[in-house]
Amino acid sequence: MTGPGDNNTRPAGPLWLLAELTYRCPLHCVFCYNPVDYKTNTNEMSTAEWKDTMKQARVLGAVQLGFSGGEPLLREDLEELVAYGHELGYYTNLITSGIGLKPARLDALKAAGLDHIQVSFQDATQAANDALSDTKTFARKLEIATAVKAAGWPMVLNVVLHRLNLDHIDSIIELAVKLGVEYLELANTQYYGWAFQNKAALIPTHEQLKHAEERVAAWREKLGNSMKLLFVVPDYFEKTPKPCMSGWGNVFLSISPDGTALPCQAARMLPGFEFPNVKTSTVEHIWYESDGFTRYRGDAWMKDPCRTCPDKTKDYGGCRCQAYLITGDATNADPVCRKSPDHEKVIAFVDAAQRRDNPNNYLKVQKPEQQALADTAEVPV
Ligand code: FES
Repeated sequence: MTGPGDNNTRPAGPLWLLAELTYRCPLHCVFCYNPVDYKTNTNEMSTAEWKDTMKQARVLGAVQLGFSGGEPLLREDLEELVAYGHELGYYTNLITSGIGLKPARLDALKAAGLDHIQVSFQDATQAANDALSDTKTFARKLEIATAVKAAGWPMVLNVVLHRLNLDHIDSIIELAVKLGVEYLELANTQYYGWAFQNKAALIPTHEQLKHAEERVAAWREKLGNSMKLLFVVPDYFEKTPKPCMSGWGNVFLSISPDGTALPCQAARMLPGFEFPNVKTSTVEHIWYESDGFTRYRGDAWMKDPCRTCPDKTKDYGGCRCQAYLITGDATNADPVCRKSPDHEKVIAFVDAAQRRDNPNNYLKVQKPEQQALADTAEVPV
């Protein structure tokens, strides 16, 4: 695989194809990373267009195929697409809230060859889960998760963590144990899209984070190999940046509902890009030739401190979207990095969130569906 510094060799093809089948979703989560203007994205690709894209990416070497959204179950052709992905030789993964996953559909997805299901919960109790997603879905999710396990699938349970649910870490892990999941992904919120808009309400306190880390360590010891627990410290609390997407245009190819090809799901907000579309370009051209996929591949685009940093081969300069969101320039170092001249901005976000008395960040959450009304809602936790 090509990494930074290999600008003169043809890179490997994508390994991961993420098919974001729709932005439609029955939930309205406050930490959603989908575009904040997702309601304007109504032009979804047809079944035939998705199949053609999957085939082209497979020819280039993609081996993993994720079906995501929004809520992919809202697409009536999901089973057909899964079956086609299976036939092409992909390892297929469904990333779902579970809402809409009736027993008959589970059977159909099994017959289509689906390899793996990731179900998301927002919290471990009905009140908190339903408040955070602005829907009454907890009981239904429990049924679905139980049915997925009963059907013999390996299951990842995904819970996005933030200030409003981090204190419930024990009950979240207990829920995963009760459901018998193989893998619990405790995914601290990434501050893009709606989560960036809501960061003042979502960034945890240092005490919350410390407590959660201690509890995860204790549970790991108790559970041994029976369940894998993934817990990554939130970006803003780090001193070194994450190797976002394993490097821009290195591994990951995301296709939006309308066919726009993106090197990461958040990239659409970056200004100065015309991201290509599979309806008008081949996947090969998109991956190897398009500005959208080549601009930040390798290290020729980097400026200091990344350009001369020995860690650039490991972290790729961090996240381009985070650099843009916080500094206004996607070619800057990810400000999570302590070497970034903008690192103090990240520290300021975290410091502001420590103030429990601040009415701007104390359990006030602006929900996606309500943004136009500039409405806010209290979240009972
Ligand atoms: Fe876009 Fe990190 S989320 S590069």
